Amino acid sequence: MCGIIGILGNQDVSGRLLDGLRRLEYRGYDSAGICTIHDDQLDRRRAEGKLDNLARKLDGEPLPGIIGIAHTRWATHGAPTQDNAHPHATGEVALVHNGIIENFKPLRDELIAKGRTFTSQTDTEVVAHLISADVEAGMEPVEAVRTNLKRLHGAFALAILFRQHPDLLIGARLGSPLVVGYGENETYLGSDALALAPLTQKIAYLDEGDWVVITRAGTQIYDKDDQPVERPIVNSGVSSLTIDKGNHRHFMLKEIYEQPIVVAQTLKSYVRRLDDQVSLPTPDFDLSAIRRVTIVACGTSYYAGMVAKYWFEQFARVPVDIDVASEFRYRQPVMEDGGLALFISQSGETADTLAALRHARSEGQKIAVVVNVPTSTMAREADLLLPTHAGPEIGVASTKAFTCQLAVLAALAANLARAKGRLDPREEKEVVRHLSEAPAAINGALAYDEAIEAMAHLIAPARDVLYLGRGTDYPLALEGALKLKEISYIHAEGYAAGEMKHGPIALIDENVPVIVIAPSGPLFDKTVSNMQEVQARGGKVVLISDYDGIQAAGDGCMATITMPKVHPLIAPIVYAIPVQLLAYHVAVLKGTDVDQPRNLAKSVTVE
Ligand code: G6P
Repeated sequence: MCGIIGILGNQDVSGRLLDGLRRLEYRGYDSAGICTIHDDQLDRRRAEGKLDNLARKLDGEPLPGIIGIAHTRWATHGAPTQDNAHPHATGEVALVHNGIIENFKPLRDELIAKGRTFTSQTDTEVVAHLISADVEAGMEPVEAVRTNLKRLHGAFALAILFRQHPDLLIGARLGSPLVVGYGENETYLGSDALALAPLTQKIAYLDEGDWVVITRAGTQIYDKDDQPVERPIVNSGVSSLTIDKGNHRHFMLKEIYEQPIVVAQTLKSYVRRLDDQVSLPTPDFDLSAIRRVTIVACGTSYYAGMVAKYWFEQFARVPVDIDVASEFRYRQPVMEDGGLALFISQSGETADTLAALRHARSEGQKIAVVVNVPTSTMAREADLLLPTHAGPEIGVASTKAFTCQLAVLAALAANLARAKGRLDPREEKEVVRHLSEAPAAINGALAYDEAIEAMAHLIAPARDVLYLGRGTDYPLALEGALKLKEISYIHAEGYAAGEMKHGPIALIDENVPVIVIAPSGPLFDKTVSNMQEVQARGGKVVLISDYDGIQAAGDGCMATITMPKVHPLIAPIVYAIPVQLLAYHVAVLKGTDVDQPRNLAKSVTVE
């Protein structure tokens, strides 16, 4: 899984390919590489690790050429070494790949039996050899690609160069996204429109199974049956501006601080203060007829979905199933015809979520998508598109996208409740009023940043940390644990506070900090009882609550974090802030790579 870009240009491409890779680093940063054709040769520069290593290599050994392909990698098959870095090449063919070739083993055995030598442990290298073998035997490149694509099982987006054809770039996609960009006497391939934004805004999105032949004479797209097709050229509308960290030390911190504004921006699209109503785009199906909602997502987006389950059931009284995308598709879920399947994703490209979306569609579900990247594949495949307006999120650990997802999901819950006759205008007014208070309350929560920074040293030495919460604070406990794991590499678990006594309590001792998320409200006393069970066993508690909560239960805690007093509806949005800040400051103390933590990627485009 990775990011790819290709240019058939009229001037040197390596600098522009490198720039494109910077915009694709969210898809992986284990290694990177570029290949061009010059002086009748395929010439590569590849480097292990972050893109800066490749940039340094290119400074020392510049790579000329007006045609080229490039890749940033998230390792699946084979360690993140230089040998496993793309582009993979034979003497005749070089290619970059995003996806997984699932049948690479038999293909590799077959090629080895024919005497071909492999230099990497990747699945990708078989594709280079398959095509190369046919080209070396005299087959035309287009024919060699056409024939061999049929032999590949799994998912791929490919960009391919041929040594003897310096005016030819071929692309193909199945399962992984690929776009064609049209410039002035130049043509591009990229994993997304963002990668190509500084080069062109004129984009054609390839369909599943499409492949494309790009030459100086023009561009021809073929469909999965190898028939020539036209795909509409649209204006991507993606900004070519490079996003910087402003005055912040990390993108993550900048994005945490953007939340009052982006949540307000998002809410503006979904609530009308004029008449205090929620206002969603009108779907082309009847919301009032929805009898069951199936929510599917991954990672942080999944935890936003868990909060939404509480809301949908509480407000609209509609039963909700929720699943992580990687499980959903393969457990043969039962879905009633005409049900609503709701997919939540920052990127709109997560392979498991996308596959689950397509599965739900094939089962007759209406598809609603809450997504942050409006040009993404999921956005384009939705029946009901509900964009979050968080703006580009660069830090790998999701922050502002999460709170914006919650804002949209709360509005959707209210909308569904209204459609179901479960929310009268007075109640709707209340919901809108509470939601509208969220941006100011987030600001209030951010005011505790310094206090949280000051107590981060209490958590940093821990080997294990527990997070506890009840109701909508339970998904938040899971999210808190995920944030801490992702960026500080401390093992952390989130638990429903009441479930702790069924196992995790055995872990409690003075070395395991327990973060308790407990706004004062109907579940407060119950959560505090669980907190006391921890304290009775010598556990060290950090209590996150409001002033009343801290007054009532703060004594005996190792530390407390005071939040503004908020309505329970927006508590998960507001309490996300201390949870994010705590993980951030602990990670900074531990000296980890906060924005690009090891082994992770912002967008996981393989199953
Ligand atoms: C990756 C990211 C997480 C994100 C998850 C789902 O694992 O590191 O931060 O929550 O993917 O991504 P999505 O784009 O679908 O929300």
